[in-house]
This record gives sequence, structure tokens and C-alpha cells, in this order.
Amino acid sequence: MLAHVIPMKRISIIGTGYVGLSTAVCFSSREYHVIAATKNEENARAINAQRAPFYEPGLDAALKHSVRSKFLRAETSRAKAVSETDVSFITVATPDQPDGTIDLRYVISASEDIGRALQKKDAYHLVVVKSTVTPGTTREVVKPAIERESQLVAGRDFGLCANPEFLRQGSAIEDTLHPDRLIVGEFDETSGALLEDLLDEFYEGSVPLLKMGLESAEMVKYASNAFLATKISYANEMANVCETVPGVDVSQVMAGVGLDPRINPQFLNAGAGFGGSCFPKDVKALRNFAKRHGAQAPLLNAVLTVNEAQARHVAQLVLSCLGEPEGKKVALLGLAFKPNTDDLREAPSLKIATQLLAARACVCAYDPVVKKIALSEFEALKCSDSVQACLVGAHCCVVVTEWEEFKALTPDDFIKHMAEPIVVDARRIFDPQEFRHRLRYMAVGLGDVR
Ligand code: UDX
Repeated sequence: MLAHVIPMKRISIIGTGYVGLSTAVCFSSREYHVIAATKNEENARAINAQRAPFYEPGLDAALKHSVRSKFLRAETSRAKAVSETDVSFITVATPDQPDGTIDLRYVISASEDIGRALQKKDAYHLVVVKSTVTPGTTREVVKPAIERESQLVAGRDFGLCANPEFLRQGSAIEDTLHPDRLIVGEFDETSGALLEDLLDEFYEGSVPLLKMGLESAEMVKYASNAFLATKISYANEMANVCETVPGVDVSQVMAGVGLDPRINPQFLNAGAGFGGSCFPKDVKALRNFAKRHGAQAPLLNAVLTVNEAQARHVAQLVLSCLGEPEGKKVALLGLAFKPNTDDLREAPSLKIATQLLAARACVCAYDPVVKKIALSEFEALKCSDSVQACLVGAHCCVVVTEWEEFKALTPDDFIKHMAEPIVVDARRIFDPQEFRHRLRYMAVGLGDVR
């Protein structure tokens, strides 16, 4: 099938979530012809109408540019997307199942659809798994599904690679354009060389690229997320110790620790715990994967336990300020699991709100982007349309997401509007000296005044 002479210039992306759409707009912004395939008709319509189907800074503008210049279009037919392109990236979601193991149904359906399309296609095609999948999935699940449906043979008739993605929500486009590293897991040499060529051309050879086997590449993603989650749980555990010692501040401690280049300062911010669609799910999936394979993973268990406890700890700090919580108003600033996204998946805000509502406090939230919560169990959680409205009459305010808008608040903003000016800073955005001087201020990782 002459794989070596095929330029991989026409790209299909199967799945239009954060990873899929960021990959699609970035390739198309550099004049690769891209088809983004989604079974969700509303999303396809939105993309073709140059609108991002979800909130992500910069995505709307990038989409506008790519769709207008005709280098990007959305399709609901995966068959069409595959048949008109040379390479397909699988970027569908891999959620967790109730038991914490990975749910591969979308990966399987994408692989089968690609297989069916390849059966009718004469030319060589490269399939690249970008979705986060546990080691062995590309070889043992994706490959057989494609081969079964296409009657073709991997490595001979079509190419197969694993190419994990490390972008963060909130900076998805920037991260896709400027990654720290590229990981290419290859089923066979030709597949790896083709993907390497494509990525080298796109990044102009400026990004370190590591080639390895499929399973190692899949594992890099889990090992990276596990390490970052471990750093956060470590910082949160240190914060809890710091809180018990008068005069100690975890922010200063972590600044000191992070100056060691062997450690580095990133992901050492103690707070309300990690949320989002990746860390909680991926650490659980890796823990369960390890267990299934007879490996011990006590560290991963501890990382998850510390994380669960952290949201409860923040709720406890709030309750300790309220006295009898019934009927008292708590202003909760920030709902999204982190700034610059509207994503509520595994958001610490919801875990904290659950604890406060269970204690019969009235919880009122404000988030610059999340304006309502469409979950029946949070009917009692009120949403305000400004910080001020959220603070009015509150007996305690807890900062859960470190949006820029909140960083500009001064002690006066709280004193002016609240029934009792008490602030629990779960993201360490305020200056303790300034705030302690003016109101009752408690913060994650901050010991009493000495
Ligand atoms: C993460 C990884 O960073 C990314 O490489 C991977 O591809 C997907 O998962 P994301 O979930 O988008 O990205 O956000 P990230 O910025 O990593 O934050 C995750 C959670 O950790 C957030 O809830 C954030 O508030 C929390 N966090 C992060 C901390 O509590 N402290 C920190 O120091 C850093």
C-alpha cells in the first residue's frame, strides 16, 4: 500500500471534545485539511457555524479562522471523515465506570467505524489513538476492532500508533501548539515514522519527540497524571500539617521546597483538591489497572484518599466559622474545577457544597462562567450573577476556584456586603497579612498567628 509515499496532509479527528477540537483547529490553522467527526449533530452544526460547542479560551476565534478558510469542517459521518483523509486521530472520551475501571465503549465504537470505513478504502491509512487509554488498549482492543471490521492487517495494510495528549483545559490551544514533548507509540516502524514525520513537520522539529512501544506510550500519560496528582496531594497533606503550627504558611513552605530544581515549583499549590475530567479518573483507572494485573499501588490509593479528604476539610473550615449552620448563608466563589473553564466534572466546589447543604447551611455560589447547575441534587444551591450579590448577607465566604476576578477583591468588598466578614481562602489567593488585619481570615495551609 506504499505507506512511505503517502503525505499525511488530510486529517480526520474522531471525537470533538477538548482534545479533538484543539487538535483539529491547530492542524487546520496551519493549512492541513481537517475533518472533525462527531455523532452529536448539534456539535457538528455548531462547529460548522464557527461556534465552539463548549467554553475554552481562544477556541471560538481559532474555529472561526479554520472553518472560514475551509481547512476545517465537521461531519457526523465517521465513514466519510476516514475515507477522505490519510490519518485518523481517535480522541473520544474514556470515562470511568462506577467501579473506577476505564470505559472503552467509545474507543471501541470509533475503532469499529474506522475499520468499516477502511474496508471500502484502497489507500493506506494511519490510525492514531490520542484518547487516554490503559496500557494494552491500542494493541488488544483498537487493533482487533479495526482488523475485524476492515479485514485488513495492522502494520501491513494500515498503520497504528498511540500518541497521548497532555493539554490542560483552559489553555488547550496554547498547549496543543506548544507541547513540552511528543510521545509516539508505534505498532510498527512505518506507522511510527509516518506519525513522526507528520508531527515534525507540524512542530518544525522544535518539540522533543520520544518513540517507544504502544504500551509504554499509553503508560506515559497515566504515569504523568499520577505524578502531578501526587504532587497536589502531597502539597495538601503538607498544608494540613502547616495549619496546626502557629506562624507556618504552606505557600511559603512550598515556595521554598519548589526552588529545588529536582522538585520544581509547579503543581505544589495546596487548595481544595484536584478535580476535572482527568486526574481523578486517570488515577482511579491506573489504580484499578494495577490491581487487575496483581501490582500494588498504595501510593495511588493515598493520593485519592488525601484528595477526597481535602474538599471535606475545606467544608469543615467553613462550618467551624459558622457556629450553628442552619439558616446561615455561605457565599461560595467559584464553581468550575479550575479557572478558565466551565467544566464541573469532579469539581471540589460541588463536594464542598454537598457537605454544607447537608449541614443545613444556605449555599449561594457565583462563578464568572458557570451560571447554573443542571443537577437535581444541587437544586438547593443558588447561583448569583455577581460577586456582590453572592456576598450580600453571607455569614462566611469560601473561595473555591482562583478566577482572576476574585484575586482583585479587597477586605472592604467583604466587609461592605457580608453579614459577618469571614473568609475561607481555599485557593490561597489573598495576602494573609492584609486580610487578617481587617477581617476573620482562614486559609488552607495557614497556621494561626504566632
Ligand atoms: C490535567 C493535566 O495537567 C494535563 O496534562 C492532562 O492532559 C489532563 O489533566 P487539567 O485537568 O485540564 O489537566 O487541569 P490542571 O491544570 O492539571 O488541574 C487539575 C486540577 O488540579 C484542578 O482542579 C486544579 O485546581 C488542581 N491543582 C492543580 C491544584 O489543586 N494544585 C496545583 O498546584 C495544580
